[in-house]
Amino acid sequence: MTVPRVVRTRAELAEALAAPAGRRAVVMTMGALHEGHLSLVRRARELAEQVVVTIFVNPLQFGAGEDLDRYPRDLEGDVRRLAGAGADLVFAPDVTEVYPQEPVVTVHAGAMGRVLEGAVRPGHFDGVLTVVLKLMHLVRPDVALFGQKDAQQLAVIRRMVRDLDVPVEVVAGPIVRDTDGVALSSRNAYLDGEQRARARVLYRAVLAAEAAAARGATAAEVRGAAQEVLAAEAGVSTDYVALVDPETMTDVTDDATGPALLALAARVGTTRLIDNTMVTLGAREHGEEGR
Ligand code: PAJ
Repeated sequence: MTVPRVVRTRAELAEALAAPAGRRAVVMTMGALHEGHLSLVRRARELAEQVVVTIFVNPLQFGAGEDLDRYPRDLEGDVRRLAGAGADLVFAPDVTEVYPQEPVVTVHAGAMGRVLEGAVRPGHFDGVLTVVLKLMHLVRPDVALFGQKDAQQLAVIRRMVRDLDVPVEVVAGPIVRDTDGVALSSRNAYLDGEQRARARVLYRAVLAAEAAAARGATAAEVRGAAQEVLAAEAGVSTDYVALVDPETMTDVTDDATGPALLALAARVGTTRLIDNTMVTLGAREHGEEGR
């Protein structure tokens, strides 16, 4: 088990990356690392000779009144966890290192960044894309891994890479869940015991949508199945349940067939949680019909 080297400045990073080391992968994170992050690091290890993990709580992607100040931070623990997962280098810069001056020229996610999470968190995806592009420039990876857990983030990053010709391959990793089905998230740390139990409803809603799609339900019915499950849980308020094109994040029509992303967000107490799944619409087996 090799302990990764930790660098805090862009100069140290450049120096650490100077020697040729083969294909380079990056996993970008905000720290407080859990199995979801580590699964991406392990996948990166399989895809590249050199694995760089960035740990940076990016102020640009937090809105006023969001949890920037109380976002969990544990660099020492993160580095320990990364040693087991196979990271070579950790870039954990301070805010002033990443933003020596207030950025004036930034990346905009456009319409894709104004729906779903973006509707509730205006400017969030502009902040994400700006830091992701900066980190791409600083790390210069061949491959960058992102989790399907943040499906809209993955979609806007893929779109930025295409639209701006960023020379990197984007690879998605599946959602990692706890044994009770709750998707791992650094924000789960905000939940008390009772809220944690309530948070399981998000996965139950995902399963209900998957079951409805497997029965051949329409888009509205698939959405409705998830909505119904969420609505039945006291102490949980739904922000949105949406069924969208996984690339553009636009709502699918009610007669849509083929792959669609079911995305949902809900508040458990003051903590916002998200979850999602890919479903196939119009997928019902027709073998029994008309007999
Ligand atoms: P963060 O929330 O720390 O997540 C870092 C990466 O881990 C993202 O690609 C995210 O999708 C992935 N991830 C988180 N939870 C996961 C889970 N349960 N299963 C699989 N993957 C999971 O996302 C960000 O940070 C930031 O927006 C960032 C991209 C670093 C830009 O600041």
